[in-house]
Amino acid sequence: MIIAIDGPAASGKGTLAKRLADHLGYACLDTGLLYRAVARDVALRGFRLEDTWAAVSAARGLVPASFDDPALRGTAAGDAASIVAKIPAVRAALLAYQRDFAAQPPGAVLDGRDIGTVVCPNADVKIFVTASPEIRARRRFAEFEARGAGVAYETVLADILARDARDAGRADAPMAKAADAMLLDTSNLGIEAAFDAVVGLIKRKISH
Ligand code: CDP
Repeated sequence: MIIAIDGPAASGKGTLAKRLADHLGYACLDTGLLYRAVARDVALRGFRLEDTWAAVSAARGLVPASFDDPALRGTAAGDAASIVAKIPAVRAALLAYQRDFAAQPPGAVLDGRDIGTVVCPNADVKIFVTASPEIRARRRFAEFEARGAGVAYETVLADILARDARDAGRADAPMAKAADAMLLDTSNLGIEAAFDAVVGLIKRKISH
């Protein structure tokens, strides 16, 4: 069983994916971390993020244990991720890892931008989670505040808008709702309500 959850920056897809995976006893992969880690490794080695060769070799050498790095969670890491994520050869280098992860029994939940469209077009359940940019920025800002990250709300909103534009506008695997994905707008839903809505969507989908 493969569950694909896509959506724009800070839409809550990661939280939902984790809750869902825990609930179902499935493995969970936040695919954004792969791009964040590639960008980190390129920068650590002293290369430009646009350097295809450096980014592809970082993608091929990724160490999953390094995904826990707290440095991957900030706005700068997200922004850098969306730059390496535009490079088709980087996306290609990360495909096999994501597909192998998705194939593990009894099931897996993957969240990202292109899971339902490119990584797992045959996923059993596809959900596209969204919310207004201001609401997403407020939620992400609250997360940063809780961690004492000291980032201004305006910075968070600007980052979200810039990343959405870059992610939706790129030529290769742009962020998009798959034609057969269910749309979940969480603008007016808290995490519990969003989780219940997704469980309801999955039950309906499975019973058909
Ligand atoms: O958590 P948030 O929604 O802010 O971002 P993320 O899911 O960690 O993704 C960071 C960046 O990685 C995105 O802005 C995309 O550029 C890229 N990404 C992607 O291209 N494809 C994916 N499947 C996941 C992330």
